[in-house]
Formats: sequence, structure tokens, C-alpha cells
Amino acid sequence: MIGRLNHVAIAVADLQQAMDTYRNILGAQVDPPQDLPEFGVTVVFVRLPNSNVELLHPLGEASPIAPFLARNPAGGLHHLCYEVEDIAAAVATLQAQGIKVLDPTPKIGAHGKPVVFLHPKAMGGVLVELEQA
Ligand code: CO
Repeated sequence: MIGRLNHVAIAVADLQQAMDTYRNILGAQVDPPQDLPEFGVTVVFVRLPNSNVELLHPLGEASPIAPFLARNPAGGLHHLCYEVEDIAAAVATLQAQGIKVLDPTPKIGAHGKPVVFLHPKAMGGVLVELEQA
């Protein structure tokens, strides 16, 4: 079921500073910021040879990233994203095994592809995103 590690998402308090660090110090290709109002986040993709880093910053009042940053003022690891071939089949399999899918109806994510999130409790304490490749 599971495919590539699509990205590692890091919540950051200062998006510009994080972009500058990856671009200017680490020498990575850093894409322009992208607002995703449906998710309450602004995302920036850092392109690496074998995967991507997704920098996450709160967007709007009800951003799910705001409480995370309140608990982790320096920022922190927010989620991992794995690719799957068929997200509906993945959701069905996971639910049948008792793994909690937070909102089982896929939403369109940052890459224009359907995504769902799995509860951290069943995933080693880490929020996991699945993206249909
Ligand atoms: Co993500």
C-alpha cells in the first residue's frame, strides 16, 4: 500500500526565515508560498533530491497550526506524508484494521491530489498524511 515518502512537514513560526535558511544557507530549491485556506495553512515546498520538506505556517483565525505553534514555539515536526496509489482503498483497509482516519473523505491537498490524515495514536505518535500519487 505505502509508497514514497512524499514530504516531511515542519511547522514554523517565521516562514520567511525558514525559507531563507533552506534556500540561502542549505542551498535547496524553495518553491513560492502557497495559501491553502481549506486547511488553514500556508505551505512552502523545499525540493530535495529524494523527497520534499513542507514548511507550514498558520493561515487565518482557525488554523490548526496555531495551537501547535503555541505548544511548540520554536516550531516542530508536524506530519509525514506517504504516497498511496488508491486513497479510497487505503482508507478502507486502514479503517478495517481499526486505524483512525481523521476525516475519511479525501480533501484536495497542496499538490492538487486527494489526501487524508491518520490519527497519531495508531502511527507511533506522529500525524500521518496519505496522498494519492
Ligand atoms: Co502535508
